[in-house]
Amino acid sequence: MKKVYIASDHGGYALKKDIIEMFNSDYEFIDLGCNSEASVDYPQYGRMASEKAVEDNTLAIVICGTGLGISIAANKVKGARCALCINSTMAYLAKEHNNANVLALGGRIIGKELARDIVDTFLKTPFSESERHTRRISEIEL
Ligand code: RB5
Repeated sequence: MKKVYIASDHGGYALKKDIIEMFNSDYEFIDLGCNSEASVDYPQYGRMASEKAVEDNTLAIVICGTGLGISIAANKVKGARCALCINSTMAYLAKEHNNANVLALGGRIIGKELARDIVDTFLKTPFSESERHTRRISEIEL
């Protein structure tokens, strides 16, 4: 079963629980916190999940209220390509073109069913492996 790291702040906690419940028969989620609706700071959760995804060469999902703060934090990690997606077309292209390894979501922005589409698409879509996309991604790390 593919391992997926997942982390949220309090603003993403409810959606994180929904996602784990919706997909736990297909993926092994490693939940890095937080563990309640009590207020916490999103940067540490974004960085932690992003670092784990890069280290293990796997995927992570990070969730805060808007998805903005946690995606900014996740993208500070070398090797991380975190994409904040609000629909499944973005999730598809984030994988196909950008080979994103971290998906960011806004728990106060999207509902459970939209999140289901986005997560499903993100986890299933492969990178295109095309020369031009590979080249552009390598330019990000310069
Ligand atoms: C927390 O109130 C909120 O600021 C956070 O979840 C997120 O939306 C930040 O970008």
